[in-house]
Amino acid sequence: MAWPPFHTPLSPLETLYPRLALLLYSSHESRALPRRFGLSGRILPMTAQKSDTLPVSESPAAAGRPTLSITDNRTGKQYEVPITHDTIRALDLRQIKVHDPDFGMMSYDPAYTNTASCISRITFIDGDKGILRYRGYSIEELAEKSSYLETAYLILYGELPTQSQLAEWSYNISHHTFIHESIKKFLDGFHYDAHPMGMLISTVAALSTFYPDAKDIFNADSRKKQTYRLIGKMPTLAAFAYRHSLGMPYAYPDNDLSYCGNFLNMLFRTTESKYRPNPTLERALDILFILHADHEQNCSSTAMRGVGSSHVDPYSATAAATAALYGPLHGGANEAVLRMLVEIGSVQNIPAYIKRVKAGEKKLMGFGHRVYKNYDPRARIVKHIAYEVFDVMGKNPLIEIALECERIALEDDYFVTRRLYPNVDFYTGLIYQSMGFPVTMFPVLFAIPRTSGWIAQWEEMLLDTEQKIYRPRQIYLGSELRSYVPVGNRA
Ligand code: CMC
Repeated sequence: MAWPPFHTPLSPLETLYPRLALLLYSSHESRALPRRFGLSGRILPMTAQKSDTLPVSESPAAAGRPTLSITDNRTGKQYEVPITHDTIRALDLRQIKVHDPDFGMMSYDPAYTNTASCISRITFIDGDKGILRYRGYSIEELAEKSSYLETAYLILYGELPTQSQLAEWSYNISHHTFIHESIKKFLDGFHYDAHPMGMLISTVAALSTFYPDAKDIFNADSRKKQTYRLIGKMPTLAAFAYRHSLGMPYAYPDNDLSYCGNFLNMLFRTTESKYRPNPTLERALDILFILHADHEQNCSSTAMRGVGSSHVDPYSATAAATAALYGPLHGGANEAVLRMLVEIGSVQNIPAYIKRVKAGEKKLMGFGHRVYKNYDPRARIVKHIAYEVFDVMGKNPLIEIALECERIALEDDYFVTRRLYPNVDFYTGLIYQSMGFPVTMFPVLFAIPRTSGWIAQWEEMLLDTEQKIYRPRQIYLGSELRSYVPVGNRA
């Protein structure tokens, strides 16, 4: 049984609690909790015994129990905490105290690198193996056989729809694509060069003022209606933002077209009386939308859940999630990748660029992931779609730079040892650019399909009886109480 690495250098937490050691042992066997636990799973301190000096793994009493034994070396007290799904409850640590009035122990996890904030049944990722599944279906199979709207239904409701459910669902989405005419006035107020993500964030938030019924978040019918509206209107808001930047008249939705076909219509329609999307581009966009529909507890989903946990309406929460997605470390990475490829300029310049990355001056955008320590399965599919789009639109010359960057990085020790592989954003920008999108639209093309995932995460959070308003703790290391000094007396 593996022991925790006590020999590692002192972390900030250990500096705070210098004499604390956690003696860990875990069992994967699922057995009933020992009687030591009440029904609440509350931990009860055990009195220090002779065997305290022995590693717990050698204690026959502990072997095989689905619990974690903890010895607080400050007091000599031992505790036993239940393990469920290889996880302990952080709140179970609270009873570990030196003195009765103490607050009790917390866990410290900046950026939540090892903290499960919820139980979810939506999306499964195995980052080591490069596996992504929505509701149990592999991303590869969905990309090949499903459509975005069908996948959105699956993500939201847990099962693939029947024929009639899919027809009804598609009808409801396509009949909520229009936006109130006043929204156009907001858009008109933006500069011609306003970033479309800024416009999207603002107009999604503005939707909450048009639909006050959305505040009724514990009413299932109301939630369903807001779901239709959000998924239906996001492409309209995005397309209108794009047309605004070009100074072109807004093109209204065409409900006869598919979800992506209609989006292309609202973006690119000019004088045609009926816009006919290119089927290859329409399908390529649909697959990209499937790939982006959800990705479990990423930064924007966490924003959606966190903001939604205050019981605000879903439009306001979606605006917050969209804002989180905007950043270059998250959904803004596709835009950053394209700018990087343009900056590199040619294949000959790649080694010098990689050198700067390795020196810590730059990041290789579109590489690395908090969860994937293997090739992002979405990136593999995206790479394949790129060539299908190039067949229609002509080859994007930046692909050569991207492929060479990938080749060099996958052989280079810096990237290999850090397990940095291309993520979904590495190749999407090349496709979007070939399809005629300006780079500023790339994160918007991420936000539209992610809306279904955000709503699913939000609803799961709302209906989870264990969830409350998100409110983490902190370790305060600031000044102690001090007296106010009048301004004239300050040094
Ligand atoms: N280029 C160069 N070095 C990198 C990169 C990169 N793209 N990503 C991580 N590293 C290095 C990092 O400097 C660190 O090195 P060291 O151990 O020497 O300090 C090591 O790899 C571990 O990285 P980290 O920053 O601790 O990893 P993280 O989990 O906190 O960050 C990430 C994940 C995605 C923010 C990061 O890999 C990154 O900034 N990538 C570029 C931006 C990007 O492509 N984002 C899109 C993510 S996929 C779409 C989505 O779901 O949002």
